[in-house]
Amino acid sequence: MIDILYLSALNIVFCSLFSCQENNGGNPNFQDRKQLFTEDWMFYKNDTISKISEVLQSDNWQEVYLPHDWSIYQDFDKNSPAGIGGGALSGGIGYYKKSFKIPLKDSAKVYRIQFDGVYQNSEVWINGRYLGNRPNGYIGFEYDLTPYLNYGSKDNTMLVKVDNSDQPNSRWYSGSGIYRNVWLKKLSKIYIPQWGTFVTTPRISEDNATVNIQTEIKNEFSQEQNISVEVKILQGNREIAKSIDSEIKIGTSATINLEQQVEVHNPRLWAVNAPNLYTAQINIIQNEIIIDRYETQFGIRDFEFDVDKGFILNGKPLKIRGVCMHHDLGPLGAAINTRAIERQLEILKEMGVNGIRTAHNPPAPELLDLCDQMGFIVMDEAFDMWTKAKTENDYSQYWEKWHKKDLTDLIKRDRNHASVFMWSIGNEIQEQWSDKGTKIGKELSNIVKSLDLTRPVTAGMNPPIHVSDKKVTLQFEETADKPNSLAGSGALDLIGYNYAHQTWEKHQLNFPNTPFIATETTSGLQTRGYYEFPSDTTKIWPVRWDKKFTGGNKDQTVSAFDQVRTPWGSLHETSWKIIKKYDFLSGFYIWTGFDYIGEPTPYEWPSRSSYFGIVDLAGFPKDVYYMYKSEWTNDTVLHILPHWNWEEGIAVDVWAYYNNADEVELFLNGKSKGVRKKNDEDLHVMWRFPFTAGKLKAVSRKNGKIVKETVMETAGPAAKINLDPDREILKANNKDLSFVSVKITDQEGHLVPNANHNISFHLEGNGEIYGVASGDPTNHQSFKGKEHRALNGKCLVIIKSGNQKGDLKLTASAEGLKKTSVIIKLEKE
Ligand code: GAL
Repeated sequence: MIDILYLSALNIVFCSLFSCQENNGGNPNFQDRKQLFTEDWMFYKNDTISKISEVLQSDNWQEVYLPHDWSIYQDFDKNSPAGIGGGALSGGIGYYKKSFKIPLKDSAKVYRIQFDGVYQNSEVWINGRYLGNRPNGYIGFEYDLTPYLNYGSKDNTMLVKVDNSDQPNSRWYSGSGIYRNVWLKKLSKIYIPQWGTFVTTPRISEDNATVNIQTEIKNEFSQEQNISVEVKILQGNREIAKSIDSEIKIGTSATINLEQQVEVHNPRLWAVNAPNLYTAQINIIQNEIIIDRYETQFGIRDFEFDVDKGFILNGKPLKIRGVCMHHDLGPLGAAINTRAIERQLEILKEMGVNGIRTAHNPPAPELLDLCDQMGFIVMDEAFDMWTKAKTENDYSQYWEKWHKKDLTDLIKRDRNHASVFMWSIGNEIQEQWSDKGTKIGKELSNIVKSLDLTRPVTAGMNPPIHVSDKKVTLQFEETADKPNSLAGSGALDLIGYNYAHQTWEKHQLNFPNTPFIATETTSGLQTRGYYEFPSDTTKIWPVRWDKKFTGGNKDQTVSAFDQVRTPWGSLHETSWKIIKKYDFLSGFYIWTGFDYIGEPTPYEWPSRSSYFGIVDLAGFPKDVYYMYKSEWTNDTVLHILPHWNWEEGIAVDVWAYYNNADEVELFLNGKSKGVRKKNDEDLHVMWRFPFTAGKLKAVSRKNGKIVKETVMETAGPAAKINLDPDREILKANNKDLSFVSVKITDQEGHLVPNANHNISFHLEGNGEIYGVASGDPTNHQSFKGKEHRALNGKCLVIIKSGNQKGDLKLTASAEGLKKTSVIIKLEKE
């Protein structure tokens, strides 16, 4: 079995990375090497016409900006072919076209088009010439345009067909269309191709790091060429090291691979709380002129997964406190927006999260860039299924033809990212307990290792079993006597547990030589701001796969006390208590950080989005967020729940999550309700007494001194709307966002915790209401509308900037509430 151990023995458990981002580096010569190609597209939705000539002639084309997700504009539909698992939003077939000119002076250049992700089954044409198709909706791809282009005044027309009609094909909301960025590349005839570099740091010490840069270089001239290749390492804009290889010959139409090493003195290591990055700038020089420049970020860090000590980063143990995230951005659907991803990561970082699992597919490149810059430990995942389908029309049908290429491209695309620490070759793969699964697992692991030996390979197994060595009886008897298992096959460097928390403590008995990671845990369920008493009974909610777990509420609300879970999952506190206790448990990825569209649990209409998030779909934290924050950060936390608007006299429970203190005392209308202290393992304290309206105050103390006070008051009738933008100044660049939290308050400004007014929004100025949401999984109002019903006192409106400087005025109104406005400024970049 391998191993990360052999890596450690050879002392090469260091990895470094650069993002495959080909920046322009501010050098005017390379401004247009890679340009965003997202404006002036036309879109046409048609599920029935199949003749391209007819499609092009249609009068129904409408202007769109990319990235674009057409499904998010559809009505929620119980009978949607995507099913409620897919968010009850339909797919279908859509076309995109764009006309553009290429100047005559550039007719000697190489032109390529790069798509970062199109869901799904894309086909691309340029000037009527077919360039190719790509079924996988999550991986990036590129085509050469050069032979087919018109130059000068004649137009070029690009056409893209996106076919997401084969439904259902996903267990979660996928989105439909060109939902990631598109880039046009203008290159000299000698150039570094897509994902054409691999940066590692084979030796790191305090004084020195060796940076190894492998570069692919392609010659499209019809003669042999002489070039020099210069590698510069930059820290910010400062050059700190350099190496040059001269007199390199590249044959006619050949591609060469070059390896260069540069020493970086006194390296600043990449860490989650100090994500130091460097840039490798590669210049191809011919006749003393730089003809291609490729820049990419990387980090210098060493790590290993140890069977006893868990995850070690730069010599120190670090518990991975991760969350799983699907790719949708809530009300924005799948259409990527860098600020929207950044906001999600900021909210998670503030809670103390240090890891992201890209469930269950290649993420947007922008997510990984942000994880590099913000400091997250990423598990980069390739597949949710291999040959056996999980939904009727899913990727399994393309497996045979495409899996090698899709996996290869994922590794080549992402292997330079400082934040990527492990590859997952699959999630809950149905073949995982069979000979077939073992065989495919080994094949995939070999593909990964042929491209990157610096990171371990894992898979999310449910559960991992080691058939040949049944030292521990797992409680999952139905899988325990299968003839073979992926976990026991040696294909994996890290044993990845999905759930099965009852077996984690026995990991070293079952798998003595292979380190542990919990790839997926918990699956707790909650509706933000909704509570049930008593809070200390655990409830197991109905699920898709086993209807015998009945129960739950008619309106499909779920208590936000940490008391509800899926049959296979655990309460939040349960899984964290185990992970926290043992060093050899490297860490975990909780299902999920944010709610996502699709896969509701209860798996029943009217629900159309998930309840698993620690944060709801609008980005409002549920209460358990503060449990994690109290455990994972040094920020002083004293959070009390539930709200304080109940019927007089009913027995209520009050919980407090706190840290940095020995005890908490609760006061109701000035009278003490007692002091509570957490025992060794406790993660919250609780009081139970009959409800009386008024003022609830919690006071935390350390050594008798007050650390923090938190007050909650019974709210009066709803009277006002409060608008709170996360940013009051936006860049006038057509894509910057302000997330405006909307709260319904009483006359005094207290949140009215059960208010559900329908709030209408109006925007004046050069911007757009880009999305609305409340976090209510049963709401069927469009995310792209201009009104939304609040959930338990709150909702969200997202404002997108236009491209003109000036003021935006957002007004919110609702029946019976005082209208209110806020100004957001747009400034030029
Ligand atoms: C897991 C699965 C996830 C999600 C989750 C819900 O088994 O890997 O994709 O479905 O269950 O609890």
